[in-house]
Amino acid sequence: MMKQTILLTICVLFSLTANGQRTVITLHKNWKFTRIDNNEAIKMDYDDTAWEHVSVPHDWAITGPFDKELDKQVVAIVQNNEKVATEKTGRTGALPYIGVGWYRKQFRVPQFTEGKKVLLTFDGAMSEAQVYLNGKKVGYRPYGYSYFYFDISEHLLKGQDNTLAVRLENHKKSSRWYPGAGLYRKVQLILKDEVSFRHWGTFVTTPFISGEQAKVNIKAEVDGSDLTLVSEIMDANGKRVSQHSSQQIFGHTMEQNLEVLNPTLWSPETPYLYTAKLKLYQGNQLKDEQLIRFGIRQIAYEPDKGFVLNSEVTKFKGVCLHHDLGPIGAAINTAALRRQLVILKDMGCNAVRSSHNMPSLEQLELCDEMGFLFLAESFDEWAKAKVENGYHRFFNEWAEKDVVNLVRATRNHPSIVMWSSGNEVPDQYGSLGVKRAKWLQDIFHREDPTRPVTVGMDQVKAVMKSGFGAVLDIPGLNYRTHLYKEAYDKFPQGFILGSETASTVSSRGVYKFPVEPGKMVQYPDGQSSSYDLEACSWSNVPDEDFVLQDDHDWVIGEFVWTGFDYLGEPTPYDNYWPSRSSYFGICDLAGLPKDRYYLYRSRWNTKDETLHILPHWNWKGREGETTPVFVYTNHPSAELFVNGKSQGVQTKNDSSPQNRYRLMWMDVKYEPGTIKVIAFDEQGNQMAQKEMHTAGVPHHLVLSADRKVISADGKDLSYVTVSVVDKDGNLCPNASNHLSFKVKGAGTYRAACNGDATSLQMFHLPTMKAFSGKLVVLVQATDKPGNIKLEVSGKGLKKGAISIVSESATGAVTMEL
Ligand code: GAL
Repeated sequence: MMKQTILLTICVLFSLTANGQRTVITLHKNWKFTRIDNNEAIKMDYDDTAWEHVSVPHDWAITGPFDKELDKQVVAIVQNNEKVATEKTGRTGALPYIGVGWYRKQFRVPQFTEGKKVLLTFDGAMSEAQVYLNGKKVGYRPYGYSYFYFDISEHLLKGQDNTLAVRLENHKKSSRWYPGAGLYRKVQLILKDEVSFRHWGTFVTTPFISGEQAKVNIKAEVDGSDLTLVSEIMDANGKRVSQHSSQQIFGHTMEQNLEVLNPTLWSPETPYLYTAKLKLYQGNQLKDEQLIRFGIRQIAYEPDKGFVLNSEVTKFKGVCLHHDLGPIGAAINTAALRRQLVILKDMGCNAVRSSHNMPSLEQLELCDEMGFLFLAESFDEWAKAKVENGYHRFFNEWAEKDVVNLVRATRNHPSIVMWSSGNEVPDQYGSLGVKRAKWLQDIFHREDPTRPVTVGMDQVKAVMKSGFGAVLDIPGLNYRTHLYKEAYDKFPQGFILGSETASTVSSRGVYKFPVEPGKMVQYPDGQSSSYDLEACSWSNVPDEDFVLQDDHDWVIGEFVWTGFDYLGEPTPYDNYWPSRSSYFGICDLAGLPKDRYYLYRSRWNTKDETLHILPHWNWKGREGETTPVFVYTNHPSAELFVNGKSQGVQTKNDSSPQNRYRLMWMDVKYEPGTIKVIAFDEQGNQMAQKEMHTAGVPHHLVLSADRKVISADGKDLSYVTVSVVDKDGNLCPNASNHLSFKVKGAGTYRAACNGDATSLQMFHLPTMKAFSGKLVVLVQATDKPGNIKLEVSGKGLKKGAISIVSESATGAVTMEL
């Protein structure tokens, strides 16, 4: 009987003929763009020759210039507990994103013939997109972070040029951070047969897993009659491990269960991916084909245990990330996203929260591949306003549609283990808010019964009282460490998630004296201290979260605010100019680790050794003054030496949160020379040592690339860190030399960033000052392979240079127009 079925399946597979395929075309190049608000641009014959040539993804505002007048607001930031309105600058990056932008593009789709249909898809458009094809309106989408698509078949001209025109508009006071501007994510055409898989209509889940066997459930929404669905599951090497064929259909849904024997489970440590290859036949004709990557993994959230992944309790060691990519703005770039994740992985981070909106699809693909758990968020506002022109204007009409698209577009990503329907929404107050929380959660459940829903809550007292917190699958607390226990006791779920934690502020390489804890501390230079003792009035330093995470099984992890600095929200300098980007990052805006990186690494990265000393040791003028030294290490104790003189042994202890996680020598007197630290294990065995020297005057430049081989695809980036060093190669930690960049060969200069939140130098210009001795230069590949050379020069410094190789792109090549 078994043999017969196999034979039959094989016969079915071979008797079907393949003549129908879908084509995906990315609309990448040859776009025209203008900032002029001109409705004539809708017309097909409109003359756009004077418009700028751009490629998409594109962020029209990132080239600036920075200007405090652009986003000046006289407001009280309610989230920051402010009662009185004051002048705020740089809150949204002080970049020119406000206003109207138009994009136009001509294209042909020769393959568009009878019986075909074409979808036009946007992964996001900032914002209030009005889309026109050949002079006719095809649709509108207000939320800048939403994925959306239109069926343009009825407007598309066969065999001739089509004109796509997109109008975008960003209102002032519509965001709490830099939102970017324009078509900042990819735009694609999907050409397929009318008989085909519906867009985002296929859901692959793994409802049963044992050591020997996994059940893979496929539900595919389809259009057409007389259909056969042939599914194959391939392992990571492309070897088929399961197949199935069926014709049964209920309404528009075909469903199959496939068995995978001895499955390799997906986890952050083993991000193993399978691919479902789904073919749709009508009669014996192949009409459509989809490849869907998925992971076999099991998630559960259990009282007093927390998040259980493949039977193992796993704490979220996560970071929140805004969507901007620093010097390149919001325009999505896979190399930039991958670099962030590489840096986070080394820190031991295992999770990302896309605060406070839908993530890019590229980011999710990378998280699947590299092994990050993902908390996919949707909104920063519901029906009640945070900012005058925020999402509340659209909530009632669009929230359900936006959630549906979020879930449908992303639910096959194994990295996503939780949804979030909101962040600190003012609807936490009042009974309507409770109803909205339930309404949104029910939509998530309807679209995806496999994952729970959270809300990042900051009004903890209110949500304990109103029932808002009790409604949620996962109660997420933003800050409010002092209320964790009470919330755990009052809420029914049996666990608490730190959906947003820390909000510690610091500037890379900047240290302030005296060294003492502080809230909302401001200094005349617009920087915050890297002793990691400063936070906001509502937030705290990392150690306080560590205590909760370590002492309570019911605290299921944290998402630190934030992994990287981002444009906008320069708290505690909201009313200081110039200041246009955040201080919250564990890494700065250039992606360079601040000291805090090593504090998290010493705890989160359980495989590698961490031994990090701060501050730097160049304190001319502080000779003999108290200059505390901190060491972040995974080892329990260490001895510090200044010019060979022991400053004593420090051992981690429970006397305070800081003493539990850091080693601190508070009374060290500065003298130039060498500081050295020797770390010990519990038994006093010497485990590691590190030295730092007082640097001499700036002498030359050291260049190091994150990747020396990149892809000649016109998009790939190499991030080159440039350090100003003395003649012996010691970093000059106070150097602020003006540097210039030249790229020769098969690459171009893309941008530079020094991580200084107060800098008004534009990223895209090939010159910038070093900040705390460093900056990062982004070199972009052209689409021709070859050698690239980056040269960096600065007055009085020996030049630095680095070679990068750009190789022909390999792997799947997508069609581009
Ligand atoms: C939170 C908020 C974040 C950010 C952060 C700064 O309350 O959710 O978006 O504003 O504060 O500390």
